[in-house]
Amino acid sequence: MTMVSPLWLLLLLALLWGPCEGSGAGVNFRFASYIGDHMVLQKEPAGAVVWGYGEVGGIVLVTLHQAQETIMKKIAYVKEQSETWIVVLDPMKPGGPYNMMAKHITKKKIYNQTIYDVLFGDIWLCSGQSNMEMTVSQIFNASEEEAKAVAYPFIRILTVALVEAKEELEDLASVDLPWSLPTPKNLGHGNFTYYSAVCWLFGRYMYDTLKYPIGLVSSSWSGTPIEAWSSWRSLQSCGVTMEEKHLYNGPTDHSILWNSMIHPLLNMTLKGVVWYQGESNAYYNTDLYNCTFPALIEDWRQAFHYGSLGQTQRLFPFGFVQLSSATSKQKDDGFPRIRWHQTADLGYVPNVRMPNTFMAVAMDLCDRDSPFGSIHPRDKRTVAYRLHLGARAVAYGEKMLPYQGPLPEKTELLADKKFLKLDYDQKIQVQKLDDKIYEISCCIGHQCEWIPAPMGNSSSQTLALKVDSCHHGTVTALRYAWSTWPCEYKQCPIYNPSSTLPAPPFITFIPS
Ligand SMILES: *[C@@H]1O[C@H](CO)[C@@H](O)[C@H](O)[C@H]1NC(C)=O
Ligand SMILES: *[C@@H]1O[C@H](CO)[C@@H](O)[C@H](O)[C@H]1NC(C)=O
Ligand SMILES: *[C@@H]1O[C@H](CO)[C@@H](O)[C@H](O)[C@H]1NC(C)=O
Ligand SMILES: *[C@@H]1O[C@H](CO)[C@@H](O)[C@H](O)[C@H]1NC(C)=O
Ligand SMILES: *[C@@H]1O[C@H](CO)[C@@H](O)[C@H](O)[C@H]1NC(C)=O
Ligand SMILES: *[C@@H]1O[C@H](CO)[C@@H](O)[C@H](O)[C@H]1NC(C)=O
Repeated sequence: MTMVSPLWLLLLLALLWGPCEGSGAGVNFRFASYIGDHMVLQKEPAGAVVWGYGEVGGIVLVTLHQAQETIMKKIAYVKEQSETWIVVLDPMKPGGPYNMMAKHITKKKIYNQTIYDVLFGDIWLCSGQSNMEMTVSQIFNASEEEAKAVAYPFIRILTVALVEAKEELEDLASVDLPWSLPTPKNLGHGNFTYYSAVCWLFGRYMYDTLKYPIGLVSSSWSGTPIEAWSSWRSLQSCGVTMEEKHLYNGPTDHSILWNSMIHPLLNMTLKGVVWYQGESNAYYNTDLYNCTFPALIEDWRQAFHYGSLGQTQRLFPFGFVQLSSATSKQKDDGFPRIRWHQTADLGYVPNVRMPNTFMAVAMDLCDRDSPFGSIHPRDKRTVAYRLHLGARAVAYGEKMLPYQGPLPEKTELLADKKFLKLDYDQKIQVQKLDDKIYEISCCIGHQCEWIPAPMGNSSSQTLALKVDSCHHGTVTALRYAWSTWPCEYKQCPIYNPSSTLPAPPFITFIPS
């Protein structure tokens, strides 16, 4: 049964009134600010959401064209109060280009606006702090990487402008780089501007794998704690108060960037999110991160699903980079605690508290001589490579693809108490021996102390640690790589068999 929608009747009536064509002048008719020429819209199975502003009482007709052919028509009315209209396009196969026209029919006039060169593909949103903001011009082999840009005309990039807001904004206040094709200039605009190297290289690896258009939206800001990117709801769920903090060089007020740089994007249909943040929480609300991070993921998922009228998957894939290393004069454990909390204290993802997530371990990609400070390592290509392996396995369901390094499944104190035997969940590649990177908690009575457990012999999936230095006491816990700078560049002790994925850091109790 087909029914004529009341909206179509209204449209017909409006046209019979005979309004004349007009320019947009005088009426607030436009697309949302992130909708523009050269954009990518999310492909099937989801429907892309398109919205904008118009005059209350008017109707908006959105049409999609390829060559001279109209291939889709959608109609919406302008809502009162918000003065916005919104349509959900039919699911589209990847490809393009298309032109998308919106006609606004009001009692007096008909207005139109056209967006040219629209592609359908997968949209990834990239967010976080300075290591996400770092541009292609700042990384190793910068000019070589920039020169490759022209080979990727089906990857399109956008950068959200740095804006703070005390209240949730409906539309972006501004865009730094509107939807663009990648060029050496767009990828290397300047230090910490655009384009995000991690985002770009991740997208490039995904394009090489998927061979269809990829849209990258970067919304990141240096020196920002997770609280700035979290909604009031998610902070409240972790017992974080709304007090204002002025600890860093970036904006730090709670929810201040959620309001301005994430909330306006909620109506966009997207494939997933990639996140690189945590340095600013190594000294601030550190032990809340095991709550605030899973809560942010859950809250963003809910909000993007709801904002896109159910088109963005409820549990969309969420990838992130585990903190790299930094030289620090302070002797503290902020970095390892954040690395651990980034996995909700389980050491691996996805896990029960963080379903459908993937992680790039980066603690072995240190860069002592980085001109931007050791906290900003220049090897972002390996970061993006590891991230894209996670995306292929978790977000695109590629089976049998190794995407995370080895973790012990079982620890056993051998009868002579001289060795602690670790059974890993996969084959291990011992890159080098290290006498200090494994540590045991050795307790005599209630006095416990972390002491090194030197690496001993190993077989394909097991490793023996020497723990005889605790023969007077009891070994109660074991930790690995629990420091700000656990190993030199690509020189951690344990990798997966192909030597591409380092064993992640962990801490675990030893059953007595
Ligand atoms: C769009 O509006 C302009 C006037 O601003 C008009 O000349 C043009 O014919 C309109 N295009 C369509 C397809 O309605
Ligand atoms: C970026 O930073 C580097 C290292 O400090 C400096 O040499 C370069 O001039 C900066 N580039 C711009 C565009 O400011
Ligand atoms: C987070 O970590 C802290 C410190 O280890 C711990 O006390 C707390 O119970 C953890 N919270 C959650 C929600 O896992
Ligand atoms: C975008 O989604 C939010 C819900 O998260 C909704 O309140 C708002 O009206 C939507 N925008 C438009 C233009 O419909
Ligand atoms: C830089 O380029 C060289 C030569 O192509 C390559 O061997 C090296 O792995 C690259 N380094 C990074 C970090 O991309
Ligand atoms: C280490 O070597 C000893 C004796 O050489 C052997 O009994 C033990 O099984 C080895 N341990 C591992 C983890 O391979």
